[in-house]
Amino acid sequence: MTLSYSPFDEAIRMNPFPVYARLRDEAPIYKSSDPDAWVVSRYQDVLSVLKDTDTFSSDAMSTVMMGVDPRAMQDPSVDPTAIENMMAIASAMPFPIEELGRSRNLIVSDPPQHDDLRKIVNRGFTPRRVAAWEPRIRQLVAECMEQVEDAGSFDVIRDLAVPVPVIVVAEMLGVEPERRADFKRWSDTLIEGITGSRRREGFVKSGVVEMLGEFARYFGKIAERRRSEPRDDLVSVLVNAGGDEGGLRPMELVTFVLILLVAGNETTTNLIGHAAKLLLDHPDQLDAVNRDRSLIPNLVEEVLRYESPIQLLFRRARVATEIHGQPIAENEVVCAILGSANRDPRQWPRGEEFDIRRSTQGHVAFGFGVHFCLGASLARLEACCVLEALVGDLPKLRQRNPQLQYVDSNLVRGLRNFELELAA
Ligand code: HEM
Repeated sequence: MTLSYSPFDEAIRMNPFPVYARLRDEAPIYKSSDPDAWVVSRYQDVLSVLKDTDTFSSDAMSTVMMGVDPRAMQDPSVDPTAIENMMAIASAMPFPIEELGRSRNLIVSDPPQHDDLRKIVNRGFTPRRVAAWEPRIRQLVAECMEQVEDAGSFDVIRDLAVPVPVIVVAEMLGVEPERRADFKRWSDTLIEGITGSRRREGFVKSGVVEMLGEFARYFGKIAERRRSEPRDDLVSVLVNAGGDEGGLRPMELVTFVLILLVAGNETTTNLIGHAAKLLLDHPDQLDAVNRDRSLIPNLVEEVLRYESPIQLLFRRARVATEIHGQPIAENEVVCAILGSANRDPRQWPRGEEFDIRRSTQGHVAFGFGVHFCLGASLARLEACCVLEALVGDLPKLRQRNPQLQYVDSNLVRGLRNFELELAA
């Protein structure tokens, strides 16, 4: 069969791994049409692309997914729809258009600008700040577990894997409890609209523009308030950061929180959801974890490797280059498949096997290099706390819903539902 792969193809959502294996073996550099991108799938190639920020720019994270390309302001031929998209976003934002133009954005920026921004946001995620969340995370997990244990049957995603990370990020940002449901709705609209099936409808129809406006009005106000009356929270740290870098401007704060919304919520939810499923699918490994809880941290790393919550990243060639002898022209897009790199047998013996005892050192589920995930230690902490509370109950439970649904996205991989009930 001819090899055919497109990063946004819904047909492979449930199981993209066979096509990843073919890409690695038959076409380590492959041209996809939607989006128009060179695809790399082997571990070493993914690593090389992510490492080399002189050659590969992160601005493709916004040009490919958001259809927003600031270069189009100077030269509309770069992407004629980019201006349309930018104008639609600008009109929904409570900020002057110049503010949009000069606003820095962590995930899409390259060094040296990225280094300055990263220094600011690192202050909100120091090991001390993250560790300080542990008692609250354990309390949230205990509350969720109390409810599910009483219920007899429950949905791991809805009742445990969604609330814990969403509440933690919302509390970090000072979102009022009554706005938490909005927080989750914003996150879902964005992910489906930019990486899922609603992508085809365009920004306005998919609801993304409206969502961005609502989101920016809400966090723009919080940013203003924390600037004049700082508290001991993340937003206050970010908008009031002193030193050479200065704090984040309101629009920059909104953009950063948007990254936290997606990068911080869905990913950790999906890590927890897949961990529960993989343990039920591998009773011997569940038994091992229950005998020795010190295996949990490596279990978390193996789930990250095996079912990477972020499957793909995009980069743009800043200069002409080549990969496996294939010339890549300046400005062409490269898609790096993390989910494939993490199973590449050239790097991982028995890469397609889930094994909580293997060495997981070097997996790229959190990316690599300057953009390495800012929230990795928080995600690990949350996942460990949830699993420590859940693994003891899992042997008594069985899967209730025969049909699993996946998150409507090819970039974010995770289960939408995973219902469990007491085994007879
Ligand atoms: C299992 C959970 C998570 C996974 C798999 C994950 C994955 C990733 C990946 C692959 C990147 C690199 C993006 C790139 O190179 O373009 C990244 C960046 C980032 N992540 Fe995470 N993430 C997770 C949880 C979190 C959490 C909990 C937060 C914060 C609350 C967070 C915040 C960020 C931020 C701010 C960046 C951008 C860093 C930069 O550009 O310098 N992530 N994440």
